Amino acid sequence: MDHLIAGRTADVRISGLGKTYDGGVAAMADVDLTIASGEFVAVVGASGCGKSTLLRILAGFERPTAGSVEVGGTPVTGPGPDRGVVFQDYGLFPWLSVRENVAYGPSRKKLPKGEITAVTDKFIAAVGLTRFAAKYPSQLSGGMQQRVAIARVLANDPSLLLMDEPFGALDALTRTDLQTELRRIHVETRTTVVFVTHSIEEAVYLADRVVVMTGGASHGVPGHVQAVVPVELADRDVTSPAFNEVKRQIAALVHTVPTPA
Ligand SMILES: Nc1ncnc2c1ncn2[C@@H]1O[C@H](COP(=O)(O)OP(=O)(O)O)[C@@H](O)[C@H]1O
Ligand SMILES: [Mg+2]
Repeated sequence: MDHLIAGRTADVRISGLGKTYDGGVAAMADVDLTIASGEFVAVVGASGCGKSTLLRILAGFERPTAGSVEVGGTPVTGPGPDRGVVFQDYGLFPWLSVRENVAYGPSRKKLPKGEITAVTDKFIAAVGLTRFAAKYPSQLSGGMQQRVAIARVLANDPSLLLMDEPFGALDALTRTDLQTELRRIHVETRTTVVFVTHSIEEAVYLADRVVVMTGGASHGVPGHVQAVVPVELADRDVTSPAFNEVKRQIAALVHTVPTPA
């Protein structure tokens, strides 16, 4: 591959993290988690257990009401270009072409023009969209739009990639393609990834470790980390007995009934 894309990478330290929204119910409490530089961590759990809350705090979109987060040794106090965020809805600028969407971040950094073009082309190639660079988002399928969203975030050279159910709106086949692509991109960039998903299979396929969250306001227990499961598989063959054993183990943890404090 001629577009090797070694990127930046940072570790993440989450300690005593909690969030109580106005109105009083604790959405999340007592989350402690250390993520190594270059690690791919997936977060799974039922709706309402605080996955998005955790991700938004890491992104700096939301302030915690307890505890702290450090990314690359720096406390998170707000959004920053060191953290790239990808959501389920692609969030592209509809009036810009694929190339212009991906060039947006590098252009704002006022890099030399040649460098902007090089970075933009590299990441468009990395997500397999070179032939579509002049198209507009409305001319692309959902899967292709999400590829653009990933390229746009990577072009900012983040040290932490935060993804909240990024493939949740895609059909099963497109989703599998994007998972394969993301795994390959992660191997190349070694950017640290925190990836929220409903799909246990997706989590086991992608992650070095799977964080299982349970609880949530509707359970009368704040969302919290139930378990952290390392994925120690020689390969990620989703049909293998070993893969399915890890899936079963995580499914059992996801369905653990939290006991009210
Ligand atoms: N802005 C908000 N204001 C009040 N409550 C919220 C807000 N965002 C999320 N919550 C509540 O916090 C809990 C966790 O939500 P969320 O982090 O979105 O869970 P998940 O992503 O795991 O489905 C839920 O009970 C939800 O209703
Ligand atoms: Mg969510």
